[in-house]
Amino acid sequence: MDVIICPTAESAARWVADCIARAIRARPTIVLGLATGRTMERVYETLVEWHRTEGLNFSGCQTFNLDEYVGIPADHPGSYHYYMNQRLFRHVNIDPHNTHLPNGMAPDLDEECRRYEALIAKCGGIDLQLLGLGKSGHIGFNEPLSPFHSRTRIQRLTATTIAENRSLFPNPDEMPEYAITMGVGTILDCRRLLMLVTGESKAEVLARTIEGPLTAMVPASAIQFHPDCTVVVDEAAAIGLRHREYYRSVTSPHSGRKQLPVGRSPR
Ligand code: GLP
Repeated sequence: MDVIICPTAESAARWVADCIARAIRARPTIVLGLATGRTMERVYETLVEWHRTEGLNFSGCQTFNLDEYVGIPADHPGSYHYYMNQRLFRHVNIDPHNTHLPNGMAPDLDEECRRYEALIAKCGGIDLQLLGLGKSGHIGFNEPLSPFHSRTRIQRLTATTIAENRSLFPNPDEMPEYAITMGVGTILDCRRLLMLVTGESKAEVLARTIEGPLTAMVPASAIQFHPDCTVVVDEAAAIGLRHREYYRSVTSPHSGRKQLPVGRSPR
């Protein structure tokens, strides 16, 4: 795992957007895994800006979102379909047929979960998965007790998550209590993971994710297993990391490259 500590939330989001843009340029037919939440808003704003100013080209990309609420339609302002359309899809040249989210209105939700897993596999798997971190320790909507090998499934949300996310609904009483989420195992299958965590309110759960024991009570801690995982944080979120000076000494915040002894080339 690489931990990149950026001075501010703004610079951390820019770092992540730059990483995604480089990945798209290197592989125009990339399969991207996308995340939602307040933390990602600045990332998508930056990608949209680069599409407009530098011609960042999404025409060959496929995307899969981590999760979607159960029981609200795609055009509901609280849905993740709506979030993605408003924040990214309608502003760039991505083919809407190539953007995928679970359908929380499917008549058979278990079948919908199987369909989503099968579609990811049919597209060759996810090359780069963007991740946020929930206060409950979730990635996607994998709440505490999520098995590390879990696949896309229905998840009941914790009181912590409901309290965190209900203010994002125009009518907070419409916040669903269930969601469809990629499983922890689905996420671990992605070729590369890129997590963005900002703000002091996430400091404690970030420390448990990176430095705590691997435990299903903190499903995000499963990223410690992944062979190619980068966690990008701001100083405020890093405040609870016991080994933050070591992380700084290992990885340059400017390039993300390993700082190796003279004469060795970074990977
Ligand atoms: C939401 C999403 C997650 C997201 C997380 C953090 O519930 N399901 O994918 O990463 O919570 O959200 P925020 O950035 O708003 O703190």
